[in-house]
Formats: sequence, C-alpha cells, structure tokens
Amino acid sequence: MEERWPWEEEGSRESGDPLAHQRHEAEIREQMPRVVQLLPVQGTVMGSISPHQTGDIVCYDILKRAPVYDLTSHFSDIQPKAPARGAHRHISAPTLFCLNGRGWEINDGKTYSFGTYDMLVVPPFTIHQHGGDDDLGCQIFVPQSRLFSLMGLTKREQIKFGDNPTFPQGTEPLYGEQGKLIGYKIKKGVLGIKEDIDVMLGADQKTETVFRARKQAASWDGPVDNIYDRYLKLFHDESVFCNNVTHVIAYEEQPWEWCRQGRLKWFTHPEINSAARRVWLYMQEISPASRSGKHRHMTEEQVLVIQGRGHDIHDGQRWDWERGDLVSIPAMAEHQHFNDDPEQPVLFLSSMPSVGVGLGIGGIEQLDDAPEFAEGKR
Ligand SMILES: [Fe+2]
Ligand SMILES: [Fe+2]
Repeated sequence: MEERWPWEEEGSRESGDPLAHQRHEAEIREQMPRVVQLLPVQGTVMGSISPHQTGDIVCYDILKRAPVYDLTSHFSDIQPKAPARGAHRHISAPTLFCLNGRGWEINDGKTYSFGTYDMLVVPPFTIHQHGGDDDLGCQIFVPQSRLFSLMGLTKREQIKFGDNPTFPQGTEPLYGEQGKLIGYKIKKGVLGIKEDIDVMLGADQKTETVFRARKQAASWDGPVDNIYDRYLKLFHDESVFCNNVTHVIAYEEQPWEWCRQGRLKWFTHPEINSAARRVWLYMQEISPASRSGKHRHMTEEQVLVIQGRGHDIHDGQRWDWERGDLVSIPAMAEHQHFNDDPEQPVLFLSSMPSVGVGLGIGGIEQLDDAPEFAEGKR
C-alpha cells in the first residue's frame, strides 16, 4: 500500500494550501454570532454543570459557537442542600467566579470559603471539591483558556465520587469487588468517541510523581551562576509560591479603578498574587446610558453580562446583549460596550488569555476614552 504523509490524508487540515484554510476559517468566523445565550446546566458525573459554552476545553470543536479559539467557559450550579460533590484535579489552574450565593472549596485538604462575586483560584494539579451553602447554594462561572490542551497537558483525574453520584445518559457506573464504585464508562458516540472509554478513579502515578516533586520543592538555596540555574530556581520558586498564595481573591478587597476604559475591578492580572495564569479577569461597571472606552488588543476576549442590557460595536458592527449573555470578541477586533438602559448600570465580567504577554503580543491600544474619564473622573 502506498504510504501517505499526514498532510496527504483526505480531509487533513494540513492538506492543500494553508492560505485556503486561513480564508475558510475567516469566512466561518465572520458568520458566527458574537453574542450567544448560555447553554443550561445539566446532570453530569460531577454534578450540575453546563457544557463548555464556546468549545470544549479539550479543543475538539473550535469555531462551533463563537469566533474565539482559546477562550471558553462553563457554569456549575450547586443547589441548596445538594449532596457533597466528588473531587478531581487537572493541571490547568481554574478560576472559579461565584455569581450567586456562597460556597466552599477544599483544595488538597484545606478549606476556603467564598461569597458572591469572589473568585477562587485552584493552583495547578490540586485536588479540589466544591460545595455550596446549605441555604443559598451557589452558581459558579469558570472562564477558561484552552491552551493547556494544545500543550499536551490536558491531564485530568477523578479522585473520588460525590455522595450521591448520578450517571447521565451516555455514561454508566463501573463496579469492582464487593460492589465498590471504581469508575465510570463513557459510551461510544458521546463527544464522537468511536468506542467505550473507562474512566477509573484514582491518580495516575507518573503525573502524581511529577507534581509531588513540584509541590514539595522547598525554597532554592543553590547558586544562580548561569542561565540554566535560573530555571532550577524557578521550579522551587513556583512551588513555594503555589504553596503559600491565597486561593480567594475577594470582591471587597479589590479596588474599583477609573481608567480610560471606564470603571474596572481586576481579579487577576500579573500584579495580583494568585496561582491563576490562564486568563486575566476584570469586572466592569458602566453607568446608565453611558459607554466604555473603545480599544483593541491582539488576544480575544469573552464577556459575561451579569447585569443590565446594552450593545457592543465590533469593527463597526452592532451586537445587542442582555443579562446572562456571553459576548465573544475575536482577536484584533476594535470594540466598545454601551449601556442602553437609562436607569440601571451594566455589570459584566471579562476574561482575556494571559498568554499574549509572554508571546510579545500583549498590551492594549486605546482608541477612545470612557466619557466619565474624559470628564476628569479618576
Ligand atoms: Fe476542576
Ligand atoms: Fe477588550
């Protein structure tokens, strides 16, 4: 049989003219909606969780729901008095933003509590389990970068099941000796998989070994005589940092700032000490009938409308939105947000991939200032 190179396979994205793919993707992007309504939460093995809103975290489906590549997000709802959830871990460090109610989070055995509009950060490969207040429950929004998946670091493990696990359609429990629940089966057809996959509870030894070393490394006391030594030290520095950094970025502790873009409150950015490095995240409030500044940046952006109604202008095109919508701003788009309500402020939460800074495509180009800032509000 004639041997073929991967790029000669039929349907391969590598086949043919790369410029043709680029044009094809640009056409798809142009036709995609910038504002989508949320996919609802549904029962999963882990509890009530929504599908990823703009593409699975593992990058199975890019450009399926919105014109963004790296960013996606999902929601997790914990009803009052819900049974305790299971625990899992993954390499990517998630940022969990509490939209409603109150909750708690156990990270590697330590408990943290959070309230409405607080953000919780789980450092890389930390066993985590979350729960809600018995009376209020909580609703959590998880904005995510999918970059880990592209780097071969998708690694995810189910450590234990919840108190009352449910196995939704397409999955079924797996039992071991004496009827003990030891994992679950994902049936052929779910997410397009070609055969059944067994997901077993417990740690993968190799990743466990790698991360035990990362977490147990004490402060570096060796020499830094050359560039290579800096990387040896970085390994220890990251360990010490992740072991000591706070996991809760509280709404009350972060200041509101007037800036050229408007009134912003940052939850993660390079100057805020947290283990969250996947996305930079800020909240913005726009006064009734007012607008944000107009700006442009290389990386894409995703905005969850928490309160109010209004519209965006992206490169001259109008997109209307209201509370509960998810707005996707593609890479390099010029954009501005408008509050269309004469009485109520708009509140939204914005996420951007953090990686642009490391790649030399960071920074923001300001094209117009928010009116309040232009009038002297500082
Ligand atoms: Fe998680
Ligand atoms: Fe932006």
